[in-house]
Amino acid sequence: MCGIVGYVGKNQAPSILLNGLEKLEYRGYDSAGIAVHDGVNINFLKAKGRLENLKKLYEENPITGTLGIGHTRWATHGAPSDVNAHPHVSDDNIIGVVHNGIIENYMEIKEELLAKGYNFKSETDTETVTYLIDDNYKNGMSFEDAVFSAVDRIEGAYAFGIICRDEPGKLIAVRKGAPLIIGKGEGENFIASDIPAILHHTREVYFLEDNEIAVITENTVDIYNKDRQPVHRDIFHVTWDIEAAEKNGFAHFMLKEIHEQPRIVRETILKRMPEDKNFVDLDDIKLGKEELDNIDRIYIVACGTAYYAGLVGKYLIEKICRIPVVSDVASEFRYKDPILDERTLLIVVSQSGETADTLEALRIAKKHNARVLAIVNAVGSSIAREADDVFYILAGPEIAVASTKAYSAQVAAMYILTAHIALTLGKISEKEFEEIRDEMYQLPSKIEYILQKENEEKRLAAKYKDVHNVFYIGRGLDYMVSQEGSLKLKEIAYLHSEAYAAGELKHGPIAMIDDNSLVIAIATQNDIIEKTISNIKEVRARGAKTIVITMEGNKMINSEVADDIFYIPKTLDILAPVLANIPNQLFAYYVALNLGTDIDKPRNLAKSVTVE
Ligand code: AGP
Repeated sequence: MCGIVGYVGKNQAPSILLNGLEKLEYRGYDSAGIAVHDGVNINFLKAKGRLENLKKLYEENPITGTLGIGHTRWATHGAPSDVNAHPHVSDDNIIGVVHNGIIENYMEIKEELLAKGYNFKSETDTETVTYLIDDNYKNGMSFEDAVFSAVDRIEGAYAFGIICRDEPGKLIAVRKGAPLIIGKGEGENFIASDIPAILHHTREVYFLEDNEIAVITENTVDIYNKDRQPVHRDIFHVTWDIEAAEKNGFAHFMLKEIHEQPRIVRETILKRMPEDKNFVDLDDIKLGKEELDNIDRIYIVACGTAYYAGLVGKYLIEKICRIPVVSDVASEFRYKDPILDERTLLIVVSQSGETADTLEALRIAKKHNARVLAIVNAVGSSIAREADDVFYILAGPEIAVASTKAYSAQVAAMYILTAHIALTLGKISEKEFEEIRDEMYQLPSKIEYILQKENEEKRLAAKYKDVHNVFYIGRGLDYMVSQEGSLKLKEIAYLHSEAYAAGELKHGPIAMIDDNSLVIAIATQNDIIEKTISNIKEVRARGAKTIVITMEGNKMINSEVADDIFYIPKTLDILAPVLANIPNQLFAYYVALNLGTDIDKPRNLAKSVTVE
């Protein structure tokens, strides 16, 4: 939540900051601001609403300078407004601060600062930090010491970019529990919440760790730990291209990311299941026979879409490997005193690798000596760094707030892990493994085939765009897919939708069904398809319109059951989720397009949820 960018060098900071913020807008977009040092003073501009408003303000009131910080906000303390927007700059423009995260003890510090005569203008927790540093500085501390001392006082999760009026060539970066990277240039340096913000300028990056402070000038980057001892950090070289974070002719990032799925699923599968090996190559992930024999219990913990991908994993590991798995949303798991010990494997799933609840679940598990395997997209993210083992999915930067390609890659990762565990523990034969693997190789072209039928989903979205209640139903793995489908529609179309296990409808929810309802039924699981069909008939008999997603060749789904049928190519039942989810993504996308919502940046949401 919130995006931070900072620059120190010889070039004009404002355009670098504004361009960087554009790439970070996915993190929060209710207001934005920049503060720039012109060599004498700090000048700043802030505007409520999208970055466009700030850009307009900047065109009308240009500010100049070669040192600066910028911010795009997702409100936590105080509504979106000009005054609550960052940077927060102290009186006489001495200290300027941008912040991502939450300061938990800000009230107590604010009381003290109020007593000292500080006059608060905003409702934010961040302003407290600005004045705390300002107060330290006015009491004779150096800029660096004023920051170190303030950081000792504050509690919570944060990343800061800080500048000082009397230090026109210095930028200070602080990190604890919120992402922050430093980009190393030639005679210029950058800070940012995420790599795309600086990728136009440099590929050389330092990942700041928790409780570290970096003092940055145009030619130097000095990193210190919380005891103020210098820390050495290796440079990370970014290999992916900026195009990966651009729309490439698609109307929205979401659509582009939906279309990237064949390639991403192919790459994720081939990396771990190369054609010349008849086993899973987990590389340096330590999950061999010995480790697996030492595991009594598996948890899969995540949030949102990543959680729904985890549900597919739970289902598969239990069904195929016969190991009990508990899946939980991280915000619940972290507070329920879960049973954890050294014989527990916790699998956390996260696209961003920065989700606060998931990160905390990981930390709790580690405290209890459990093993943690993270399935992560963002390389070098906090979750990736703190887990015992990392299974990187190869989805590249996902910019649209609604996750699509990461889900498919996460589900592919679940197939890979399941196949590995099952083979290692002798739950499937080599022949069965090969059968699953060979069918997995077909998934990318089958996704491609579904994407070629995009117009069918466009037509369905236009046909049903006026419905007010949408129910997604399914059984077994189809129910898992229903949950993700429903979330997608809520997120980007703002439509009320719910997902139900099809057999549960008659225990209550069916009372809501009438002729204004749309039911999207997923019916791919052959062993229970007849039961699902009965449930679809029950809602149809009560007036609901039905779209059924099923596999080609399924004669049981006909016009008696469905108003509309969307066929996915035939595959093994266990592999159906990754295919059946694609039409749901397209349906949500085109409904949202018809309704004119802001698809890539839906209201009230942020891509990376770094607050609990
Ligand atoms: C997905 O469409 C959502 N925006 C959201 O549910 C997301 O999946 C969730 O916040 C978890 O994020 P993570 O994968 O980065 O941990």
